[in-house]
Amino acid sequence: MHEEYCSHFRPEAASAAWEELEPRALARLLAEELRQEAVEGFVDVGSGLGKLVVLAAAITPATCWGIELSPVRAAEARRAWAQLQSEADAALPWTRRVRLLQGSCLKDLPAEALEASHFLFTMRRVGKLPRGTRQVSERFLDLLQQCAAKERVLLSVGKRLEPRDGLEHVDACFLRAEWSDEEDVLIHRYILSR
Ligand SMILES: C[S@@+](CC[C@H](N)C(=O)[O-])C[C@H]1O[C@@H](n2cnc3c(N)ncnc32)[C@H](O)[C@@H]1O
Repeated sequence: MHEEYCSHFRPEAASAAWEELEPRALARLLAEELRQEAVEGFVDVGSGLGKLVVLAAAITPATCWGIELSPVRAAEARRAWAQLQSEADAALPWTRRVRLLQGSCLKDLPAEALEASHFLFTMRRVGKLPRGTRQVSERFLDLLQQCAAKERVLLSVGKRLEPRDGLEHVDACFLRAEWSDEEDVLIHRYILSR
């Protein structure tokens, strides 16, 4: 894992730390979201083992994407998903809406995914970056603002995004995360427009 971290992440600009939202917490969040907005595409930005992507496909009508930089984690996500499909009824319609990709959120998501209505950020921010280096999540927002006119919902786990034109902080709620020693974590909800 250390070798992969050095080859696929820029150690000076990326945290190796894990930061997962608890699946039941995401289920509650999406259930609330479905009451407020149409969920027309969901992307877990930094999808790790992919469980939140599978969950989102099961409980929303949307195509659900996960993009994961780590080849080891992405391969494990695909293996686990293939196993789940073989054990469950693979003919269930929602299973055809899961897309687990390996690569960088900044260059490997297809246009269809970038048009999604909902984006979940679970990537940990890196505290001190070299001068001129911006957080990946901020560069990803640049990308989203370039490619669609419609408004999207951003759910940021545990941290606030930097203020910018077109970004409105709507509200925040506490939910359970797996990494936080039984403490709930704040989920910030934003609307992003151009
Ligand atoms: C804390 S994990 C979250 C996993 C998953 N979303 C969950 O909550 O279960 C964050 C993931 O973001 C991935 N990541 C970091 N930078 C990335 C990038 N530029 N593109 C895609 N994934 C990235 C990391 O490899 C890590 O697996």
